Amino acid sequence: MDSFLIRGGTRLKGKIEISGSKNSALPIVAACLLAEGKTTLNGVPRLSDVDSMTKLIGELGCHVYRHEPAGRPGNDLPPLNGPLDIEVTDEKLCEARYDIVKTMRASICVLGPLLAKRGRAIVSIPGGCAIGDRPVDLHVRGLQKLGAEFRTENGNIIGEVHGRLKGCRMYLGGAQGPTVLGTINVMCAAALAEGETVLVGAACEPEVVDCAELLIKMGAQIKGHGTPEIRIEGVDKLHGAEHRIIPDRIECGTFIIAAAITNGELELKNCNLDHLIAVADRLDEVGVKIERQNGTAFVSSSRRLNNVEMTTQPFPGFPTDLQAQLMALLCLGDGISVITERIFPDRFLHVGELNRMGARVRKEGPTAIIQGVKELQGASVMASDLRASAALVLAGLVARGTTKIDRVYHIDRGYEKIEQKLMAVGADIERIKEKG
Ligand code: EPU
Repeated sequence: MDSFLIRGGTRLKGKIEISGSKNSALPIVAACLLAEGKTTLNGVPRLSDVDSMTKLIGELGCHVYRHEPAGRPGNDLPPLNGPLDIEVTDEKLCEARYDIVKTMRASICVLGPLLAKRGRAIVSIPGGCAIGDRPVDLHVRGLQKLGAEFRTENGNIIGEVHGRLKGCRMYLGGAQGPTVLGTINVMCAAALAEGETVLVGAACEPEVVDCAELLIKMGAQIKGHGTPEIRIEGVDKLHGAEHRIIPDRIECGTFIIAAAITNGELELKNCNLDHLIAVADRLDEVGVKIERQNGTAFVSSSRRLNNVEMTTQPFPGFPTDLQAQLMALLCLGDGISVITERIFPDRFLHVGELNRMGARVRKEGPTAIIQGVKELQGASVMASDLRASAALVLAGLVARGTTKIDRVYHIDRGYEKIEQKLMAVGADIERIKEKG
């Protein structure tokens, strides 16, 4: 287990290129199970979660090939990741084993494609994780409505389809609102179902739209993606296609906050600020300046950070995946800020660690009350989940002294080359490799 050593206090200045979206790439790689022929994906980030997903679809009979990175002569940015080719060569196997599912919950995304294309799926039930229980009942219910039959056995969900899935009109929301991966799972299955499926209460996240765009390129008939009502007219077959993954809005938001917390100036390439409209709104209130020019964002901030209130919400609201990072920033705000977590009410493991660094955050149910302090101090802290870890990196960048973050494998799941990107803009961050 590697750790990061961060000596805080440098202002970040320079250019960072945002990678392709992890949360788009994962379900999209799984969606390739639906197609006949080769699919080529551009902009797939190099992350351990992506490795887990490609390993999983490899075990499910896909040939996966990553091209060499492409150099960019005359450009000061590092080479682009090579495209990822995926082609199904064997459709016999239908099982997603616990070994893989336990490392990555997004493995559940193979459920819909396997049922639609192969008529059978065995997927180990993902357990709880650091950010909460995270059930998959809505995925299962949606697929049941399309005609799949399910039972659970020895920790596995076993799904079967007799004949072909049949389209229908269904409500897909749950107690916490829409489900992102659940919407994608059911949409993928409905793409090959007989007749029309209407998903009411669908998630509107850009990652759902990205997956729908790929399916359309494969020959699917989908309308309304990006709205709460998605209409899918099932087709008999899908074919291979070429697609570019959207920029990672959460990585982009994290670097915007990195510029703000260090009082720095960053130029972020390859970003889509339309995907961060609520984030830009809250940060504007805090006093962070974000200017856009085509696909580039220029971020700077005044030394004084105002306090704000923020509630996480489904898209286009403020994303839960940036809650911890915003909290790190607000720890240094003027006065009291309030954050309420409506998507994963227990997603607050970073609170204790930030407090170890001198922050003053108090949690009351799904709400955190943050009393701004003048400075944070370096400390040894523990990464608990991906975004909480990112918040600790941000805090470390500005803290007085040295911060040691253990268990950075959480960060490697979702931030491509984070330490190289930060070092390139002046951060003093070092990866300490685990011995042995
Ligand atoms: N929910 C249910 N039943 C279900 C599915 C979800 O009750 O069957 C609840 C969840 O417990 C939660 C809410 O619905 O309260 C929304 O969860 P959602 O299903 O939308 O989450 P997800 O699709 O499993 C994706 C991202 C998460 C991100 C959430 C919310 C991926 C791989 N994961 O998860 O990303 O937080 O949407 O936007 O796309 C991360 O990247 O760090 C991460 C956790």
